[in-house]
Amino acid sequence: MIYLDNAATTFPKPQSVIDAVCDCMKNYGGNAGRGGHYLARKSFEKVYECREVMADFIKADSPEQIIFTKNTTEAINLAVKGIIKSGDEIIISSMEHNSVLRSCISMEKRGAKVKIVRANHEGCVSADDVISAITAQTRLICIIHASNVVGTVNPVREICKRAREKNVLTLVDAAQSGGILPVDTSCGDLIAFAGHKGLYGPFGTGVLYIRKGLKLDTLIEGGTGSLSESAFMPESLPERFEAGTVNTCAIAGLCEGIKFVVNEGVAEREAELGAFFKEQLSTVKGIKLLGKSDTAVMGVLLKNHDCVEVAERLDAEYNIATRAGLHCCPMAHRTLGTISSGLLRFSAGYFNTKDEITTAAKALENIISE
Ligand code: ALA
Repeated sequence: MIYLDNAATTFPKPQSVIDAVCDCMKNYGGNAGRGGHYLARKSFEKVYECREVMADFIKADSPEQIIFTKNTTEAINLAVKGIIKSGDEIIISSMEHNSVLRSCISMEKRGAKVKIVRANHEGCVSADDVISAITAQTRLICIIHASNVVGTVNPVREICKRAREKNVLTLVDAAQSGGILPVDTSCGDLIAFAGHKGLYGPFGTGVLYIRKGLKLDTLIEGGTGSLSESAFMPESLPERFEAGTVNTCAIAGLCEGIKFVVNEGVAEREAELGAFFKEQLSTVKGIKLLGKSDTAVMGVLLKNHDCVEVAERLDAEYNIATRAGLHCCPMAHRTLGTISSGLLRFSAGYFNTKDEITTAAKALENIISE
């Protein structure tokens, strides 16, 4: 199988990630932060190690600013619902994934208002447009860093800097950029990551970075292993936002995933493969590459073919994995003019080779030239 669906989840995972998950399951799977015995302590230490590694990776002030969630969607929901109150305004871009769109729109029931700033035909949102949409009611700006549909990168650092000057918070959806592009705390006040994508960790792992001093309401409440006598959630991070047992074995894997990204130069490799992919697709007739493909995500418009059927043929006849359709991102497809056709998406990852990319481009050419 030639796996070119790394934007959905990276595959395969590094051996060190697999080994760390197994090691936890076999050798020390106590419940982190629940009880003082050796196995519970060992799990707690592993979870803390991952918090430290992630905090270093994004230059956070302290590991406590790193909250583990089950995925990016949960991290985004925690940020949006933790910040927004009745009367607040949220600015989002027209390239947002349903994780941002649906969580923000759901706040309208609570009396908030959502304003959508349109991105250009390449899927890029202008910092000027975002900043000029700010009003006295604007509390939060939510922007996708790199598009999961066409790989276009947004100027999140500039937006964050200028929003801070106006006392407006920023939430960055880094699901498709964490590990792939430089992402640090200058990108946003809140940053949501997918552990299982560019950070090469297991499923069931996400991260929300929360800037020091920000006060958020909780999304879920429950046991934290601390202040158990109180009926209320602790104020201190990270436990305030991590009610219930954490996914220690997956977090142990994520810890190795982040180390792998740092030590193996994953970002450089993905950039090289992305540029090569773009070049290969530019020679294929009957297709149009939409957006900018700043990452290794290629959104391909097929002029005379149905994208879902072509994805099925790539899978069945060539053993090539892609993702076609709307990619949980209808707003982005409306922006790009592909809401009725959808797109065929190829997305490369660290473990792909240039030969695989050449083979995929040829397979696409064969199918659409028939
Ligand atoms: N959001 C993921 C994707 O783009 C699952 O495929």
